[in-house]
Amino acid sequence: MPMRYEKLHPSRWFDEEESRHKETIPTEENVEKSREEREKELVHSITLFLESGKNKLGEGGTAYVYYPETNQKLCFKVIRNVEVFARPEKLDAVPSEYQRFASEEYKDKLRERPWHVTLAAEGDFLDSAREIKDVVRVPEPYMVMELESSEETDDFFISDKVKVLVMERLPAISVEDIIQKKIKLPEGFSVDRFSQRLRSFIDKMHERGLFHRDMAARNVMVDMQTGDPYVIDFGRSKFGHEEPYRDDETKLFFPRTDEDGVDSIEKDLKLYSQYSRAIDNK
Ligand SMILES: Nc1ncnc2c1ncn2[C@@H]1O[C@H](COP(=O)(O)OP(=O)(O)O)[C@@H](O)[C@H]1O
Ligand SMILES: [Mg+2]
Repeated sequence: MPMRYEKLHPSRWFDEEESRHKETIPTEENVEKSREEREKELVHSITLFLESGKNKLGEGGTAYVYYPETNQKLCFKVIRNVEVFARPEKLDAVPSEYQRFASEEYKDKLRERPWHVTLAAEGDFLDSAREIKDVVRVPEPYMVMELESSEETDDFFISDKVKVLVMERLPAISVEDIIQKKIKLPEGFSVDRFSQRLRSFIDKMHERGLFHRDMAARNVMVDMQTGDPYVIDFGRSKFGHEEPYRDDETKLFFPRTDEDGVDSIEKDLKLYSQYSRAIDNK
C-alpha cells in the first residue's frame, strides 16, 4: 500500500517573486495547467520514484537526483529522512519497501546524510547564478518543497520526510561520470576552452559575491551536444564575506578555493583526453 505524501509547507515557487521574470515549470504537453495541478503531478512522480528507486541521475554526499518519466525537462534533487520503528519480531509487518530503512546500515548512512541542509538556500544560489550571462549555465531552479508521510499501527511506526528541489534536467554528464564510466567526450571538445570558460564564470560569480565552495569533477557537467560546461550543486555555497572559504561552524578553511577546484578538473580532463586519444589510436 503506497503511502500518501502530504506537503509540509507551501511550496516555494521561484516565479512568485514580483520583481523577476521567472519561467514556470515546463509541462511536457506545453498546456497551461494550474499551479495546483502541476504540483499534484510533481508529488505523484516523486512518490513513484521514492517507491521504486528507479530513474536515478546521480547521487552525491547529501542527495539523490531523479528524473520523472513524464517530463524530460525536469529533475528532482531529493534529501530523504526515513525512520522506521518496529520490534525485531514485528519487522515482517512493515511494508516491504520500508524494511530496508530499518537496517543498521541504513541508520548509519542516515546519520551521515545531513538532514539540516536547506534546499531552499540552494535554490536561492542557483537563482543568483542563473542571472550571470555566460556560456556556462546552471540548472534553472523551479520549486522547492517538503513532503511528509507517516503510518502507525500496533506493530510499527514509519516517518518519511523528503525535501525536494525541482530543477531543469541538464542534457549533460558530470566530468566525474565521464571519466569513471569512460564516456566519449563530445566531438571537438577542448579541455583548454572548457576550463577557461569555467574560470571566467567563477570570476563573474565572485564579482557578485557568490562562492561555490564545492568545485569538483562531480559538480561540473559537460553538455554532450555542445561540449559547454554547466556548474551544479550549490549545496555548500555562500554569499561572500571577508573569508568566503572559511566554515562558520568549524572555523576551518575549505580544502580548496573555486579556482583550485577548476585547476583539478582541468588536470583530470587532460589526463582523460590523453588516455582516450591513446585508446582511439590503438
Ligand atoms: N540538473 C541536473 N541535471 C542532470 N543531472 C544532475 C542535475 N543535478 C545533479 N545531477 C546529477 O546528480 C549528481 C548529484 O547531484 P548534486 O547536486 O551534486 O548532489 P549532492 O549535493 O548530493 O552532491 C550530480 O553529480 C549529477 O551527476
Ligand atoms: Mg555534488
